[in-house]
Amino acid sequence: MGSKTTISSSVKKSIIKKSIIFIMAIIFTLIVASAASAEHGEKRETKKGILLVAFGSSEESAQISFDNIDKKTKAAFPDIPVYWAYTSHIIRNKLAKQGKILDAPEVALAKMRAEGFTHLAVQSLHTIMGEEYDDLKRVVGAFNQMGGFEKVMLGYPMMSTQDDMVKVIDAILKNIPKERKANEAVVLMGHGTPHPANAFYAALMFQIQLKDPNIFVGTVEGYPGIEDIKSLMLKSNIKKAYMMPFMSVAGDHAKNDMAGEEEDSWKSILTKAGIKCEPVLKGTAEFDDFVNIWVDHIKVIMAHF
Ligand code: CO
Repeated sequence: MGSKTTISSSVKKSIIKKSIIFIMAIIFTLIVASAASAEHGEKRETKKGILLVAFGSSEESAQISFDNIDKKTKAAFPDIPVYWAYTSHIIRNKLAKQGKILDAPEVALAKMRAEGFTHLAVQSLHTIMGEEYDDLKRVVGAFNQMGGFEKVMLGYPMMSTQDDMVKVIDAILKNIPKERKANEAVVLMGHGTPHPANAFYAALMFQIQLKDPNIFVGTVEGYPGIEDIKSLMLKSNIKKAYMMPFMSVAGDHAKNDMAGEEEDSWKSILTKAGIKCEPVLKGTAEFDDFVNIWVDHIKVIMAHF
């Protein structure tokens, strides 16, 4: 019985010893593992960034618009780096031939991810939530899935919510030429799209006409077209019209489709109908009141960071 006890106690001791070694090994492993993971998954220092995404333009005149947006954004967020990307690959290719390299949104996002940005505000500088915005949303969504950023958020284009619509209308009313008389028209040329968001243009015309019935909104590639607004203008007995692009830049569409000398330009079509035309070649982004709407959208994102 006594010897049995001795044997069993020495077995017990050895079991305990082995257990202690085993437990210590586990603890050691855990410490090493946690130290390693602390090194890799260490809470990174917060690094906020802004990525401005425009359709892009190869026209020299468009740069005024982009510079103004850049300036206003940097003034609103002085400590946050601002990067740019263009959604149009045709424009990017054109610019690349001139030696100007502009990134596609996915390239800019990848670069910013690699540069260690933790919180990224991607701001769409489009006018409506059309195809370009949808594409951008997919790209931002993919980066969200992939991880790497703690937060990446996409800001709405200029005219998205009803609040935006009100701000857009105010911005238009404030920035139409001072010399324009009430019985003269203001014609805004939007881009237009087969995308469902094209309905925003007619919605804008409806709401702005409640304030000023002689402001007309047409589009180059969607509804309402120039013929639609021409007949409305003739019904209202309009004799003179100020024409302005309702696009962020006064680029190719403004210069040629709106104010060009060709037979099918809006200027030629309206002149032929007896309406004297005064083109104003300024994109919406040249006016602070419009730019502030985009900047407000970035502020909404920053409130989440
Ligand atoms: Co176009």
